[in-house]
Amino acid sequence: MSPKKPPLRPQVTTLWDYPSQHYGDALQGDPNYRGATPSYIIWNLLQRYTKPKDLVVDPCCGSGTTLDVARDCNRRALGYDINPTRDDIFRVDARHLPPELTAKVDFVFIDPPYSTHLEYSDDPRCIGKLDAAGPEYYSAMEQVIDEIVRVLKPGAHMGLYVSDSYVHGKGFYPIGFELFNLLRRKLEPVDIVSVVRHNKTLEMGNYRKAADEGNFYLRGFNYLFIMKKPADKKPSGKSARAQSTKAEPQKQTRPRPARSKAKRSRPQRHGRGGRPRPSA
Ligand SMILES: C[S@@+](CC[C@H](N)C(=O)[O-])C[C@H]1O[C@@H](n2cnc3c(N)ncnc32)[C@H](O)[C@@H]1O
Repeated sequence: MSPKKPPLRPQVTTLWDYPSQHYGDALQGDPNYRGATPSYIIWNLLQRYTKPKDLVVDPCCGSGTTLDVARDCNRRALGYDINPTRDDIFRVDARHLPPELTAKVDFVFIDPPYSTHLEYSDDPRCIGKLDAAGPEYYSAMEQVIDEIVRVLKPGAHMGLYVSDSYVHGKGFYPIGFELFNLLRRKLEPVDIVSVVRHNKTLEMGNYRKAADEGNFYLRGFNYLFIMKKPADKKPSGKSARAQSTKAEPQKQTRPRPARSKAKRSRPQRHGRGGRPRPSA
């Protein structure tokens, strides 16, 4: 029996929990695709960090969950994957996103492979063939992150959903912390959310027994790292004044009342879903 789905609503804490891969009566992506992202995560991010018609990109689109959620929310979306599962996903290596996307994208969501846990395809370029025990996985992910930074507009956000890895007999690999460090080199951290995993294996008696007897833990949560590309710096202070002096003769200005130093808070953008639209 499929789990009971509560109504979808924007999350306000950093602990997210939703008992199903998809929301509502329709599907988003394919819940049978191994490694499909829970769609409420993408829905929540789009509510906060995008508005209708914005362009959303998923470089590792899998079964297309991001495309379906973007359509529900009236956002445009482009999905890429090394092994496309449907016609609206383009066969592209996430390390080489299309050159014409530079600084055009309003939001990127990515749920990449976490080491070698799942066999996604035979394509040798699949990042899921790289073991997080060695440096190759991280250097591939560094290239992906560089591409994400390139395509984002200045000031735009991205979300990366990932889990750590434990391989019995080999060790624990803190993939989340390692990727967060890579992200921080070029992006500003906005927040870190912990997402409860509703993985069937967590409920299976033999897994629980093995974890108990083997003295290790099963992965109970995923990280969701929310990052922002720094906004372009406007010329300020002396250099701005120097530029405006060059451009036009100095005007006589009336003295202005001093402005309060307290920052005015801006209302947050909360785009709301509208009519479903086809993805670009
Ligand atoms: C965790 S799955 C993504 C799941 C997806 N968000 C969904 O909801 O169905 C990771 C995806 O990364 C893809 N992938 C692996 N290496 C890739 C690469 N070099 N470039 C693009 N996609 C890649 C895999 O084919 C797989 O579909």
